[in-house]
Amino acid sequence: MVAIESKDSLYVENLLPESEDFFKGLEAYALENKVPIIDKIAIAYLIQLFKIKKAKNILEIGTAIAYSSIRLCEEVGAKVTTIERNELMQEQAEKNINLRGLEDRITMVKGDALVLHDEVVKQAPYDVVFIDGAKSQSRKFFELYEPYFADDVLIITDNVLFKGMVSDPSIIQKSKDLRQLARKIDKYNQWIMNHPNYSTSIMPFGDGIAMTIRK
Ligand SMILES: C[S@@+](CC[C@H](N)C(=O)[O-])C[C@H]1O[C@@H](n2cnc3c(N)ncnc32)[C@H](O)[C@@H]1O
Repeated sequence: MVAIESKDSLYVENLLPESEDFFKGLEAYALENKVPIIDKIAIAYLIQLFKIKKAKNILEIGTAIAYSSIRLCEEVGAKVTTIERNELMQEQAEKNINLRGLEDRITMVKGDALVLHDEVVKQAPYDVVFIDGAKSQSRKFFELYEPYFADDVLIITDNVLFKGMVSDPSIIQKSKDLRQLARKIDKYNQWIMNHPNYSTSIMPFGDGIAMTIRK
């Protein structure tokens, strides 16, 4: 089982400072509408890590309602380019970005992240790349954006343990699709962990975070 369900994770989550009302609103919207946003321990960790790295230019694949884009932009002090293909999510994200007055710091690219967009190329190189789109496509995203990585890039891939289903697919009762997805995530993990040019650590908290740098 992943750490998220452990008593320690609950304890750590309770120690985190309370979210401000704006973010509480986004968290409640996500819960109500089943929008999968990053969990609280993971975003707190990423903010800390990107601050240590002094990240300036972040590429995010998968905006959803812009919860992580806004928190990373405001708390790390970085510019964010973020890609989203779902129209409802784009609308919500745009609304939230505008509410925070971050139109100049967050560029949302509306479209499929499996297609290279001019705006993404224009803002490159990226010192942080946050891969948080369709979980079966992480390798494709990685390879498509690799030419736009800065020399000292840090790549984060979220959900690499997928609620314990990757390490123990026997907990998936009925869904063939979920079993297939868990296999694909495992394949990505094997690929990234054995990549000749990159070194990766997988952190077993949140939903599993892979942290990748050049060798
Ligand atoms: C896990 S959510 C992103 C959550 C967000 N990063 C956060 O933590 O607040 C994944 C999002 O990626 C989007 N997505 C998935 N595959 C995509 C693709 N190929 N191109 C663009 N967006 C994609 C989905 O529509 C969804 O809104």
